Amino acid sequence: MTDTAGTGALPVEGVPAARVLDEIRALRAADRPTHGGRLFAYVYDPGVAGLDELAQAAHAESAHVNGLDPTAFPSLLAMENAVVGAAARLLGGGPGTSAPDVVGSVTSGGTESLILAVKAARDARPDLAEPRIVVPVSGHAAFAKAAHYLRVALDPVPVDPVTLRPAVADVAAAIRPETVLVVASAPSYAHGVVDPVAEIAAVAAAAGVRCHVDACFGGWTLPWLRRLGTSVPPFDFAVPGVTSISVDLHKYAYAPKGVSVLLHRDAGLRAPQFFAYADWPGYTMVNPVIASTRSGGPIAAAYATLRHLGEDGYLRLAALTRDAVAGLADAVRAVDGLRLLAEPESTVVCFTADDPGLDLFVLVDELTARGWHTQPQLAYAGLPASVHLTVTAAVAPRVAEFGPALAEAVVAARAAGPVQLPPELLALAGSLTPEALTPDLIAGLAAGLGLGAGPADRMAAVNTLLEAAPVRLRERLLVEFVGLLQRPTW
Ligand SMILES: Cc1ncc(COP(=O)(O)O)c(C=O)c1O
Repeated sequence: MTDTAGTGALPVEGVPAARVLDEIRALRAADRPTHGGRLFAYVYDPGVAGLDELAQAAHAESAHVNGLDPTAFPSLLAMENAVVGAAARLLGGGPGTSAPDVVGSVTSGGTESLILAVKAARDARPDLAEPRIVVPVSGHAAFAKAAHYLRVALDPVPVDPVTLRPAVADVAAAIRPETVLVVASAPSYAHGVVDPVAEIAAVAAAAGVRCHVDACFGGWTLPWLRRLGTSVPPFDFAVPGVTSISVDLHKYAYAPKGVSVLLHRDAGLRAPQFFAYADWPGYTMVNPVIASTRSGGPIAAAYATLRHLGEDGYLRLAALTRDAVAGLADAVRAVDGLRLLAEPESTVVCFTADDPGLDLFVLVDELTARGWHTQPQLAYAGLPASVHLTVTAAVAPRVAEFGPALAEAVVAARAAGPVQLPPELLALAGSLTPEALTPDLIAGLAAGLGLGAGPADRMAAVNTLLEAAPVRLRERLLVEFVGLLQRPTW
Protein backbone atom coordinates (compact mmCIF):
# COMPACT_ATOMS: atom_id res chain seq x y z
CA MET A 1 0.00 0.00 0.00
CA THR A 2 1.23 3.49 -0.77
CA ASP A 3 1.09 6.14 1.88
CA THR A 4 -1.62 8.09 0.14
CA ALA A 5 -3.85 5.03 -0.01
CA GLY A 6 -3.24 4.22 3.65
CA THR A 7 -5.39 1.54 5.22
CA GLY A 8 -8.36 3.69 6.18
CA ALA A 9 -11.72 3.78 4.47
CA LEU A 10 -11.12 7.28 3.10
CA PRO A 11 -7.71 7.55 1.47
CA VAL A 12 -6.43 10.88 0.18
CA GLU A 13 -6.37 9.45 -3.33
CA GLY A 14 -8.95 6.94 -4.47
CA VAL A 15 -7.82 3.34 -4.85
CA PRO A 16 -8.41 1.39 -8.10
CA ALA A 17 -11.46 -0.88 -8.04
CA ALA A 18 -9.57 -4.15 -8.44
CA ARG A 19 -7.33 -3.34 -5.53
CA VAL A 20 -10.24 -2.37 -3.30
CA LEU A 21 -11.83 -5.72 -4.00
CA ASP A 22 -8.55 -7.49 -3.27
CA GLU A 23 -8.41 -5.69 0.05
CA ILE A 24 -11.92 -6.79 0.95
CA ARG A 25 -11.10 -10.36 -0.05
CA ALA A 26 -8.01 -10.25 2.14
CA LEU A 27 -10.13 -9.06 5.07
CA ARG A 28 -12.72 -11.75 4.37
CA ALA A 29 -10.06 -14.43 4.68
CA ALA A 30 -10.26 -14.08 8.48
CA ASP A 31 -14.03 -14.73 8.49
CA ARG A 32 -15.75 -17.96 9.27
CA PRO A 33 -16.66 -19.85 6.09
CA THR A 34 -20.10 -18.72 4.90
CA HIS A 35 -20.28 -21.60 2.45
CA GLY A 36 -19.40 -25.26 2.61
CA GLY A 37 -21.59 -26.57 5.42
CA ARG A 38 -19.17 -26.23 8.35
CA LEU A 39 -20.63 -23.13 10.00
CA PHE A 40 -23.71 -23.97 12.07
CA ALA A 41 -24.97 -20.47 12.84
CA TYR A 42 -25.27 -17.03 11.26
CA VAL A 43 -25.40 -18.27 7.66
CA TYR A 44 -27.87 -20.27 5.60
CA ASP A 45 -26.29 -22.02 2.67
CA PRO A 46 -28.30 -24.10 0.21
CA GLY A 47 -25.18 -25.17 -1.66
CA VAL A 48 -26.89 -24.45 -4.98
CA ALA A 49 -24.48 -23.61 -7.79
CA GLY A 50 -25.19 -20.27 -9.45
CA LEU A 51 -27.64 -19.02 -6.83
CA ASP A 52 -25.22 -16.51 -5.31
CA GLU A 53 -24.49 -15.06 -8.73
CA LEU A 54 -28.20 -14.70 -9.49
CA ALA A 55 -28.94 -13.05 -6.14
CA GLN A 56 -25.99 -10.70 -6.52
CA ALA A 57 -27.09 -9.67 -10.00
CA ALA A 58 -30.66 -9.09 -8.83
CA HIS A 59 -29.37 -7.15 -5.82
CA ALA A 60 -27.27 -4.96 -8.09
CA GLU A 61 -30.25 -4.23 -10.37
CA SER A 62 -32.21 -2.72 -7.50
CA ALA A 63 -29.54 -1.62 -5.02
CA HIS A 64 -30.16 2.06 -5.70
CA VAL A 65 -33.93 1.83 -5.80
CA ASN A 66 -35.53 3.34 -2.70
CA GLY A 67 -38.44 1.66 -0.98
CA LEU A 68 -39.25 4.97 0.70
CA ASP A 69 -41.85 5.73 -1.94
CA PRO A 70 -43.61 2.77 -3.55
CA THR A 71 -45.21 5.02 -6.16
CA ALA A 72 -41.84 6.18 -7.45
CA PHE A 73 -40.47 2.64 -7.79
CA PRO A 74 -43.30 0.31 -8.76
CA SER A 75 -40.76 -2.43 -9.54
CA LEU A 76 -39.98 -2.72 -5.87
CA LEU A 77 -43.61 -2.66 -4.81
CA ALA A 78 -44.37 -5.43 -7.30
CA MET A 79 -41.53 -7.62 -6.00
CA GLU A 80 -42.41 -6.92 -2.37
CA ASN A 81 -46.05 -7.83 -2.93
CA ALA A 82 -45.07 -11.00 -4.77
CA VAL A 83 -42.73 -12.07 -1.98
CA VAL A 84 -45.34 -11.32 0.69
CA GLY A 85 -47.91 -13.29 -1.30
CA ALA A 86 -45.60 -16.28 -1.54
CA ALA A 87 -44.91 -16.20 2.21
CA ALA A 88 -48.61 -15.84 3.02
CA ARG A 89 -49.54 -18.74 0.77
CA LEU A 90 -46.85 -20.94 2.28
CA LEU A 91 -48.11 -20.11 5.76
CA GLY A 92 -51.77 -20.93 5.36
CA GLY A 93 -53.07 -17.62 4.02
CA GLY A 94 -54.37 -16.26 0.74
CA PRO A 95 -57.27 -17.07 -1.57
CA GLY A 96 -59.21 -20.20 -0.72
CA THR A 97 -57.85 -20.47 2.82
CA SER A 98 -59.31 -19.58 6.21
CA ALA A 99 -57.14 -16.45 6.11
CA PRO A 100 -57.90 -14.96 2.70
CA ASP A 101 -57.13 -11.36 3.67
CA VAL A 102 -53.54 -11.77 4.87
CA VAL A 103 -51.34 -8.73 4.22
CA GLY A 104 -47.71 -8.12 5.03
CA SER A 105 -44.52 -6.14 4.69
CA VAL A 106 -40.92 -6.93 3.94
CA THR A 107 -38.58 -5.87 6.75
CA SER A 108 -34.82 -5.96 7.11
CA GLY A 109 -34.76 -9.04 9.34
CA GLY A 110 -36.39 -11.05 12.05
CA THR A 111 -35.72 -8.51 14.75
CA GLU A 112 -37.42 -5.73 12.80
CA SER A 113 -40.40 -8.00 12.09
CA LEU A 114 -40.77 -8.80 15.79
CA ILE A 115 -40.40 -5.19 16.88
CA LEU A 116 -43.12 -4.25 14.41
CA ALA A 117 -45.41 -7.06 15.55
CA VAL A 118 -45.07 -5.72 19.09
CA LYS A 119 -45.55 -2.12 17.92
CA ALA A 120 -48.71 -3.02 16.00
CA ALA A 121 -50.10 -4.80 19.05
CA ARG A 122 -49.17 -1.98 21.39
CA ASP A 123 -50.55 0.79 19.19
CA ALA A 124 -53.79 -1.10 18.66
CA ARG A 125 -54.44 -0.51 22.36
CA PRO A 126 -53.86 3.20 22.97
CA ASP A 127 -56.17 2.91 25.96
CA LEU A 128 -53.52 0.98 27.90
CA ALA A 129 -50.99 3.05 29.85
CA GLU A 130 -48.73 0.08 30.54
CA PRO A 131 -49.04 -2.53 27.79
CA ARG A 132 -47.47 -5.96 28.29
CA ILE A 133 -46.47 -8.96 26.16
CA VAL A 134 -46.35 -12.62 27.16
CA VAL A 135 -43.30 -14.45 25.79
CA PRO A 136 -41.99 -17.93 26.66
CA VAL A 137 -38.34 -17.69 27.81
CA SER A 138 -37.45 -19.73 24.73
CA GLY A 139 -38.82 -16.92 22.56
CA HIS A 140 -36.20 -14.98 20.66
CA ALA A 141 -34.33 -12.23 22.52
CA ALA A 142 -35.64 -9.78 19.92
CA PHE A 143 -38.95 -9.72 21.83
CA ALA A 144 -37.08 -8.42 24.88
CA LYS A 145 -35.47 -5.87 22.61
CA ALA A 146 -38.87 -4.86 21.25
CA ALA A 147 -40.23 -4.54 24.77
CA HIS A 148 -37.25 -2.42 25.73
CA TYR A 149 -37.42 -0.15 22.69
CA LEU A 150 -41.18 0.26 22.86
CA ARG A 151 -41.52 0.48 26.64
CA VAL A 152 -43.75 -2.54 26.83
CA ALA A 153 -43.48 -4.81 29.87
CA LEU A 154 -42.29 -8.38 29.24
CA ASP A 155 -43.97 -11.27 31.04
CA PRO A 156 -41.72 -14.30 30.54
CA VAL A 157 -43.20 -17.79 30.76
CA PRO A 158 -40.88 -20.62 31.85
CA VAL A 159 -40.34 -23.65 29.65
CA ASP A 160 -40.41 -27.24 30.80
CA PRO A 161 -36.79 -28.45 31.18
CA VAL A 162 -37.61 -31.66 29.30
CA THR A 163 -39.95 -30.57 26.50
CA LEU A 164 -38.42 -27.06 26.31
CA ARG A 165 -41.93 -25.76 25.67
CA PRO A 166 -44.11 -23.50 27.82
CA ALA A 167 -47.12 -25.03 29.53
CA VAL A 168 -50.30 -23.59 28.04
CA ALA A 169 -51.71 -23.06 31.53
CA ASP A 170 -48.70 -20.88 32.38
CA VAL A 171 -49.22 -18.84 29.23
CA ALA A 172 -52.89 -18.41 30.09
CA ALA A 173 -52.02 -17.41 33.65
CA ALA A 174 -49.55 -14.80 32.42
CA ILE A 175 -52.19 -12.99 30.33
CA ARG A 176 -53.45 -9.89 32.12
CA PRO A 177 -55.90 -7.15 31.18
CA GLU A 178 -52.92 -5.08 29.92
CA THR A 179 -51.57 -7.86 27.68
CA VAL A 180 -51.46 -6.82 24.03
CA LEU A 181 -49.62 -9.78 22.52
CA VAL A 182 -48.91 -13.43 23.23
CA VAL A 183 -45.99 -15.09 21.47
CA ALA A 184 -45.30 -18.62 20.30
CA SER A 185 -42.24 -19.86 18.41
CA ALA A 186 -42.23 -22.21 15.44
CA PRO A 187 -39.63 -23.26 16.28
CA SER A 188 -37.52 -21.67 19.00
CA TYR A 189 -34.05 -20.75 17.81
CA ALA A 190 -32.13 -22.17 20.77
CA HIS A 191 -33.57 -25.68 20.75
CA GLY A 192 -35.58 -25.93 17.54
CA VAL A 193 -38.82 -27.02 19.21
CA VAL A 194 -42.24 -25.88 18.07
CA ASP A 195 -44.44 -24.39 20.81
CA PRO A 196 -48.04 -25.61 21.18
CA VAL A 197 -49.23 -22.87 18.85
CA ALA A 198 -52.87 -23.97 18.54
CA GLU A 199 -53.34 -24.05 22.31
CA ILE A 200 -51.49 -20.79 22.89
CA ALA A 201 -53.44 -19.03 20.13
CA ALA A 202 -56.66 -20.34 21.65
CA VAL A 203 -55.96 -18.90 25.10
CA ALA A 204 -54.89 -15.62 23.53
CA ALA A 205 -58.04 -15.45 21.43
CA ALA A 206 -60.20 -16.29 24.44
CA ALA A 207 -58.66 -13.29 26.19
CA GLY A 208 -59.14 -11.10 23.11
CA VAL A 209 -55.37 -10.73 22.68
CA ARG A 210 -53.28 -10.92 19.53
CA CYS A 211 -51.04 -13.95 19.02
CA HIS A 212 -47.80 -13.70 17.07
CA VAL A 213 -46.10 -16.81 15.77
CA ASP A 214 -42.38 -16.27 15.44
CA ALA A 215 -41.60 -18.45 12.45
CA CYS A 216 -38.57 -16.35 11.54
CA PHE A 217 -36.43 -19.45 11.74
CA GLY A 218 -38.81 -22.21 10.72
CA GLY A 219 -41.47 -20.58 8.58
CA TRP A 220 -39.67 -21.49 5.40
CA THR A 221 -38.80 -25.05 6.39
CA LEU A 222 -41.69 -26.47 8.41
CA PRO A 223 -44.17 -26.32 5.49
CA TRP A 224 -41.78 -28.21 3.20
CA LEU A 225 -40.92 -30.74 5.91
CA ARG A 226 -44.65 -31.33 6.39
CA ARG A 227 -45.11 -31.89 2.65
CA LEU A 228 -42.26 -34.39 2.83
CA GLY A 229 -44.13 -36.34 5.48
CA THR A 230 -42.58 -35.05 8.70
CA SER A 231 -45.14 -34.54 11.43
CA VAL A 232 -45.40 -30.78 12.00
CA PRO A 233 -47.97 -29.44 14.47
CA PRO A 234 -50.29 -26.68 13.23
CA PHE A 235 -48.54 -23.33 13.56
CA ASP A 236 -49.66 -21.04 10.75
CA PHE A 237 -52.76 -19.04 9.73
CA ALA A 238 -54.75 -22.26 9.59
CA VAL A 239 -54.74 -21.98 13.39
CA PRO A 240 -57.60 -19.80 14.63
CA GLY A 241 -56.34 -16.99 16.84
CA VAL A 242 -52.97 -16.58 15.12
CA THR A 243 -53.00 -12.90 14.17
CA SER A 244 -49.48 -12.41 12.81
CA ILE A 245 -46.52 -14.50 11.65
CA SER A 246 -42.93 -13.57 10.88
CA VAL A 247 -40.70 -15.53 8.51
CA ASP A 248 -37.15 -14.61 7.55
CA LEU A 249 -36.26 -15.03 3.91
CA HIS A 250 -32.58 -14.50 4.72
CA LYS A 251 -32.70 -17.72 6.71
CA TYR A 252 -34.21 -20.80 5.08
CA ALA A 253 -35.46 -19.11 1.93
CA TYR A 254 -31.71 -18.77 1.32
CA ALA A 255 -31.93 -15.12 0.24
CA PRO A 256 -28.99 -12.82 0.99
CA LYS A 257 -29.17 -10.94 4.28
CA GLY A 258 -31.69 -8.18 4.89
CA VAL A 259 -35.12 -9.72 4.24
CA SER A 260 -37.88 -10.91 6.54
CA VAL A 261 -41.65 -10.89 6.08
CA LEU A 262 -44.17 -9.83 8.70
CA LEU A 263 -47.69 -11.05 7.91
CA HIS A 264 -50.98 -10.05 9.56
CA ARG A 265 -54.24 -11.89 9.22
CA ASP A 266 -55.89 -8.75 7.84
CA ALA A 267 -55.20 -5.13 7.03
CA GLY A 268 -56.94 -3.89 10.18
CA LEU A 269 -54.46 -5.78 12.34
CA ARG A 270 -51.57 -4.38 10.31
CA ALA A 271 -52.67 -0.74 10.32
CA PRO A 272 -51.01 0.27 13.63
CA GLN A 273 -47.70 -1.10 12.34
CA PHE A 274 -47.43 1.86 9.94
CA PHE A 275 -46.06 5.28 10.77
CA ALA A 276 -47.28 8.30 8.83
CA TYR A 277 -46.32 11.90 9.42
CA ALA A 278 -47.60 15.00 7.72
CA ASP A 279 -46.80 17.57 10.39
CA TRP A 280 -43.62 18.93 8.83
CA PRO A 281 -42.74 20.86 5.69
CA GLY A 282 -40.99 18.00 3.90
CA TYR A 283 -42.32 15.14 1.76
CA THR A 284 -45.39 13.26 2.86
CA MET A 285 -44.08 10.35 4.83
CA VAL A 286 -45.55 6.93 5.42
CA ASN A 287 -43.39 4.02 6.51
CA PRO A 288 -44.77 0.49 6.82
CA VAL A 289 -41.53 -0.61 8.51
CA ILE A 290 -38.89 0.94 10.77
CA ALA A 291 -36.53 2.03 8.02
CA SER A 292 -37.54 4.95 5.85
CA THR A 293 -35.06 4.74 2.99
CA ARG A 294 -34.83 1.07 2.08
CA SER A 295 -32.57 -0.42 -0.55
CA GLY A 296 -34.37 -2.44 -3.19
CA GLY A 297 -31.37 -4.78 -3.32
CA PRO A 298 -32.36 -7.31 -0.65
CA ILE A 299 -35.96 -7.48 -1.88
CA ALA A 300 -34.93 -8.03 -5.49
CA ALA A 301 -32.40 -10.66 -4.41
CA ALA A 302 -35.05 -12.47 -2.35
CA TYR A 303 -37.55 -12.32 -5.22
CA ALA A 304 -34.95 -13.77 -7.61
CA THR A 305 -34.02 -16.49 -5.12
CA LEU A 306 -37.64 -17.57 -4.58
CA ARG A 307 -38.43 -17.61 -8.28
CA HIS A 308 -35.27 -19.49 -9.16
CA LEU A 309 -35.54 -22.18 -6.49
CA GLY A 310 -39.31 -22.59 -6.72
CA GLU A 311 -41.34 -25.09 -4.70
CA ASP A 312 -39.48 -28.04 -6.14
CA GLY A 313 -36.15 -26.50 -5.20
CA TYR A 314 -37.22 -25.81 -1.62
CA LEU A 315 -38.63 -29.30 -1.25
CA ARG A 316 -35.37 -30.80 -2.44
CA LEU A 317 -33.36 -28.57 -0.07
CA ALA A 318 -35.67 -29.40 2.84
CA ALA A 319 -35.18 -33.12 2.20
CA LEU A 320 -31.41 -32.69 2.21
CA THR A 321 -31.62 -30.66 5.42
CA ARG A 322 -33.91 -33.18 7.11
CA ASP A 323 -31.48 -36.00 6.32
CA ALA A 324 -28.52 -33.91 7.48
CA VAL A 325 -30.29 -33.23 10.79
CA ALA A 326 -30.88 -36.95 11.28
CA GLY A 327 -27.23 -37.71 10.49
CA LEU A 328 -25.87 -35.06 12.86
CA ALA A 329 -28.23 -36.19 15.63
CA ASP A 330 -26.96 -39.76 15.18
CA ALA A 331 -23.38 -38.48 15.41
CA VAL A 332 -24.22 -36.82 18.74
CA ARG A 333 -26.00 -39.93 20.05
CA ALA A 334 -22.94 -42.01 19.21
CA VAL A 335 -20.71 -40.05 21.61
CA ASP A 336 -20.63 -41.10 25.25
CA GLY A 337 -21.25 -38.13 27.52
CA LEU A 338 -23.19 -36.09 24.97
CA ARG A 339 -26.99 -35.91 24.97
CA LEU A 340 -29.46 -34.30 22.61
CA LEU A 341 -31.24 -31.62 24.60
CA ALA A 342 -34.25 -32.01 22.36
CA GLU A 343 -35.14 -34.61 19.78
CA PRO A 344 -34.75 -32.68 16.51
CA GLU A 345 -38.13 -31.73 15.08
CA SER A 346 -37.06 -29.01 12.68
CA THR A 347 -33.60 -27.99 11.49
CA VAL A 348 -31.74 -27.56 14.78
CA VAL A 349 -29.53 -30.06 16.52
CA CYS A 350 -28.92 -29.05 20.12
CA PHE A 351 -26.89 -31.09 22.56
CA THR A 352 -25.49 -30.92 26.04
CA ALA A 353 -22.88 -32.85 28.05
CA ASP A 354 -23.75 -35.05 30.99
CA ASP A 355 -20.13 -35.70 31.91
CA PRO A 356 -18.43 -33.17 34.23
CA GLY A 357 -15.08 -34.02 32.64
CA LEU A 358 -16.35 -32.84 29.28
CA ASP A 359 -16.58 -29.05 29.12
CA LEU A 360 -18.93 -28.04 26.30
CA PHE A 361 -17.21 -24.70 25.80
CA VAL A 362 -13.87 -26.45 25.38
CA LEU A 363 -15.53 -28.87 22.99
CA VAL A 364 -16.81 -25.96 20.90
CA ASP A 365 -13.25 -24.61 20.70
CA GLU A 366 -11.90 -28.02 19.74
CA LEU A 367 -14.48 -28.25 16.97
CA THR A 368 -13.51 -24.76 15.81
CA ALA A 369 -9.88 -25.82 15.71
CA ARG A 370 -10.96 -28.63 13.38
CA GLY A 371 -12.89 -26.27 11.09
CA TRP A 372 -16.39 -26.92 12.49
CA HIS A 373 -18.08 -23.79 13.80
CA THR A 374 -20.83 -24.43 16.32
CA GLN A 375 -22.65 -22.09 18.68
CA PRO A 376 -22.33 -22.36 22.47
CA GLN A 377 -25.39 -21.51 24.57
CA LEU A 378 -24.95 -20.63 28.24
CA ALA A 379 -26.79 -22.41 31.03
CA TYR A 380 -29.96 -20.49 31.84
CA ALA A 381 -32.85 -20.84 34.25
CA GLY A 382 -32.34 -24.51 35.01
CA LEU A 383 -31.44 -25.38 31.43
CA PRO A 384 -27.90 -26.69 30.99
CA ALA A 385 -25.29 -25.16 28.72
CA SER A 386 -25.68 -26.51 25.22
CA VAL A 387 -24.29 -26.47 21.72
CA HIS A 388 -26.54 -25.28 18.92
CA LEU A 389 -26.28 -26.36 15.30
CA THR A 390 -28.36 -24.59 12.70
CA VAL A 391 -28.48 -27.12 9.89
CA THR A 392 -28.86 -26.07 6.27
CA ALA A 393 -28.87 -27.99 3.01
CA ALA A 394 -25.16 -27.39 2.43
CA VAL A 395 -24.41 -29.50 5.52
CA ALA A 396 -25.71 -32.67 3.82
CA PRO A 397 -22.46 -33.59 2.04
CA ARG A 398 -20.49 -32.96 5.27
CA VAL A 399 -22.47 -35.18 7.63
CA ALA A 400 -20.22 -38.22 7.24
CA GLU A 401 -17.18 -36.13 8.24
CA PHE A 402 -18.88 -34.57 11.25
CA GLY A 403 -19.18 -37.73 13.35
CA PRO A 404 -15.43 -38.52 13.40
CA ALA A 405 -14.60 -34.84 13.92
CA LEU A 406 -16.99 -34.63 16.86
CA ALA A 407 -15.58 -37.81 18.42
CA GLU A 408 -12.04 -36.51 18.01
CA ALA A 409 -12.94 -33.11 19.45
CA VAL A 410 -14.57 -34.79 22.45
CA VAL A 411 -11.39 -36.78 23.13
CA ALA A 412 -9.36 -33.55 22.89
CA ALA A 413 -11.79 -31.67 25.15
CA ARG A 414 -11.66 -34.42 27.77
CA ALA A 415 -7.86 -34.42 27.61
CA ALA A 416 -7.75 -30.63 27.99
CA GLY A 417 -10.22 -30.77 30.88
CA PRO A 418 -12.70 -28.13 31.93
CA VAL A 419 -11.75 -24.46 31.89
CA GLN A 420 -10.16 -23.47 35.18
CA LEU A 421 -10.63 -19.78 35.78
CA PRO A 422 -8.91 -18.38 38.89
CA PRO A 423 -11.34 -18.87 41.78
CA GLU A 424 -11.16 -15.17 42.67
CA LEU A 425 -12.27 -14.29 39.13
CA LEU A 426 -15.20 -16.68 39.33
CA ALA A 427 -16.13 -15.29 42.72
CA LEU A 428 -15.97 -11.79 41.28
CA ALA A 429 -18.19 -12.76 38.35
CA GLY A 430 -20.71 -14.24 40.73
CA SER A 431 -20.83 -11.25 43.03
CA LEU A 432 -20.17 -8.13 40.94
CA THR A 433 -23.05 -5.84 40.15
CA PRO A 434 -23.10 -4.27 36.67
CA GLU A 435 -22.79 -0.84 38.28
CA ALA A 436 -19.52 -1.83 39.95
CA LEU A 437 -17.79 -2.47 36.62
CA THR A 438 -15.17 0.18 35.93
CA PRO A 439 -13.34 0.74 32.63
CA ASP A 440 -10.13 -0.53 34.23
CA LEU A 441 -11.80 -3.66 35.49
CA ILE A 442 -13.28 -4.34 32.06
CA ALA A 443 -9.99 -3.74 30.27
CA GLY A 444 -8.25 -6.04 32.76
CA LEU A 445 -10.85 -8.77 32.29
CA ALA A 446 -10.71 -8.51 28.51
CA ALA A 447 -6.93 -8.66 28.50
CA GLY A 448 -6.91 -11.60 30.93
CA LEU A 449 -9.32 -13.47 28.68
CA GLY A 450 -7.32 -12.66 25.54
CA LEU A 451 -10.22 -10.79 23.96
CA GLY A 452 -9.48 -8.73 20.89
CA ALA A 453 -5.96 -10.18 20.69
CA GLY A 454 -6.68 -12.19 17.55
CA PRO A 455 -9.33 -14.43 15.98
CA ALA A 456 -11.97 -15.46 18.49
CA ASP A 457 -11.17 -19.15 18.16
CA ARG A 458 -10.66 -19.92 21.85
CA MET A 459 -13.72 -18.63 23.64
CA ALA A 460 -14.13 -21.23 26.39
CA ALA A 461 -12.71 -18.97 29.11
CA VAL A 462 -14.97 -16.09 28.07
CA ASN A 463 -18.03 -18.34 28.01
CA THR A 464 -17.12 -19.80 31.40
CA LEU A 465 -16.81 -16.34 32.90
CA LEU A 466 -20.10 -15.21 31.35
CA GLU A 467 -21.83 -18.32 32.60
CA ALA A 468 -20.62 -17.66 36.14
CA ALA A 469 -22.19 -14.20 36.04
CA PRO A 470 -25.83 -13.42 36.78
CA VAL A 471 -27.87 -12.45 33.73
CA ARG A 472 -27.67 -8.66 34.14
CA LEU A 473 -23.90 -8.82 34.59
CA ARG A 474 -23.63 -11.09 31.53
CA GLU A 475 -25.39 -8.44 29.51
CA ARG A 476 -23.19 -5.65 30.77
CA LEU A 477 -20.00 -7.62 30.13
CA LEU A 478 -21.15 -8.39 26.60
CA VAL A 479 -21.82 -4.71 25.95
CA GLU A 480 -18.46 -3.70 27.33
CA PHE A 481 -16.51 -6.41 25.50
CA VAL A 482 -18.13 -5.61 22.16
CA GLY A 483 -17.67 -1.92 22.87
CA LEU A 484 -13.94 -2.61 23.11
CA LEU A 485 -14.06 -4.19 19.65
CA GLN A 486 -16.07 -1.41 18.06
CA ARG A 487 -13.41 1.26 17.93
CA PRO A 488 -12.74 3.37 14.85
CA THR A 489 -9.58 2.70 12.88
CA TRP A 490 -7.89 5.85 11.74
C1 LIG B 1 -36.92 -17.57 15.93
C2 LIG B 1 -36.14 -16.33 15.61
N1 LIG B 1 -36.74 -15.13 15.73
C3 LIG B 1 -36.08 -13.99 15.44
C4 LIG B 1 -34.78 -13.99 15.02
C5 LIG B 1 -34.07 -12.69 14.77
O1 LIG B 1 -33.73 -12.60 13.42
P1 LIG B 1 -32.65 -11.58 12.86
O2 LIG B 1 -31.32 -12.05 13.38
O3 LIG B 1 -32.82 -11.70 11.39
O4 LIG B 1 -32.97 -10.22 13.35
C6 LIG B 1 -34.12 -15.22 14.88
C7 LIG B 1 -32.72 -15.27 14.47
O5 LIG B 1 -32.07 -16.29 14.54
C8 LIG B 1 -34.83 -16.42 15.17
O6 LIG B 1 -34.24 -17.62 15.06
